[in-house]
Amino acid sequence: MDDALIPRLFDAAKAAREQAHAPYSRFPVGAAVLDEQGRLHAGCNVENAAYPQGTCAEAGALAAMVLAGGRRLQAVLVVGEGAEPCTPCGGCRQKLREFGDDALPVLVADPSGLRARFTLGQLLPASFGPDHLTGTPR
Ligand code: THU
Repeated sequence: MDDALIPRLFDAAKAAREQAHAPYSRFPVGAAVLDEQGRLHAGCNVENAAYPQGTCAEAGALAAMVLAGGRRLQAVLVVGEGAEPCTPCGGCRQKLREFGDDALPVLVADPSGLRARFTLGQLLPASFGPDHLTGTPR
C-alpha cells in the first residue's frame, strides 16, 4: 500500500466512526479498508440491546467491500479512542485474514491521528486461512 493513501483511509474511518451505534459501550469505532481495485469501504460498530448481537466496525467495512465486489485487502485502518490504541479484536483479525495475508497493513488511529501500525501477521500469527482448505476432501 502506498502510504500516500493513509489520509483517505483515516478520513473514511473517522467519518464512519461518527455514524457508530454504540449506546451500550459508548465506544464508537470506525474502520476503512482499501480493496484490490483501490476502492475504499467503511464501516462502524453497530451494537444491539441483546449485547452479543453487536457487530464491529471492521465487519461492517468488510461487508461493504464484499457487496461492492472487492475480495482482497490492501490496507485496513481502525479509528477508536482510549488509553490503548484500538487494535482489532480477535474475531475481526480472523475476518480480515479471509481477505488479506500476513503482510496486510493494519493501521490504528484515534480521531487525532495515527497511533500504531501493524501487519496482520503480527496481530494473528500462524493463522488459519483459506489456503488451509484447498486440497482437502469435502
Ligand atoms: N469494536 C470494534 O468495532 N472494533 C474493534 O476493533 C474493537 C471493538 C467495538 C465492539 C463494541 O461495539 C465496542 O467496540 C466496545 O467493545
